[in-house]
Amino acid sequence: MQYNESEFLVETEVPEHELIISRTTLEGAISYANEAFCEISGYTEDELIGKQHNIVRHPDMPKAAFKDLWETIKNKKQWIGIVKNLRKDKGYYWVQAIVSGVYKDGILIEYKSLRTPISYEEKLKYQILYDRMRQENGEPTRKVIYE
Ligand SMILES: Cc1cc2nc3c(=O)[nH]c(=O)nc-3n(C[C@H](O)[C@H](O)[C@H](O)COP(=O)(O)O)c2cc1C
Repeated sequence: MQYNESEFLVETEVPEHELIISRTTLEGAISYANEAFCEISGYTEDELIGKQHNIVRHPDMPKAAFKDLWETIKNKKQWIGIVKNLRKDKGYYWVQAIVSGVYKDGILIEYKSLRTPISYEEKLKYQILYDRMRQENGEPTRKVIYE
């Protein structure tokens, strides 16, 4: 994948009132996506259901963020984090995600994620932090070439 294509540079802002919701199987395959998730990610419901949730994984996200997410939710705790996601058209959107278990009769059956918009200052802070984390861990670094 290339990281310097113009199509990666277009942000879709999550509207203030929107709540982006998805659920996954215990293996991370999407089992439910609300309308806001489809709209913001640019996928139809049919394109999302059954796919691994990394379908919206953005190359700017450091691996460590998702390692932490999975360790946290497997320990039956709630993970709250800032995520930059990839749209179908290769644009992106930033959210704060709250990821936790879905229980039925006390048994963990699925995971769910509720996402809300974040401020400009937070986006800037996390872009810089995630760039640094990827660089420190030898992960591919986004390059934007201005000519
Ligand atoms: C309920 C739930 C929601 C998730 N939401 C996202 C998401 O919005 N974006 C994302 O990149 N990964 C999300 N993940 C994590 C992915 O499953 C995956 O670990 C991540 O995209 C990294 O991909 P990789 O494991 O292939 O490296 C979610 C996981 C769960 C359980």
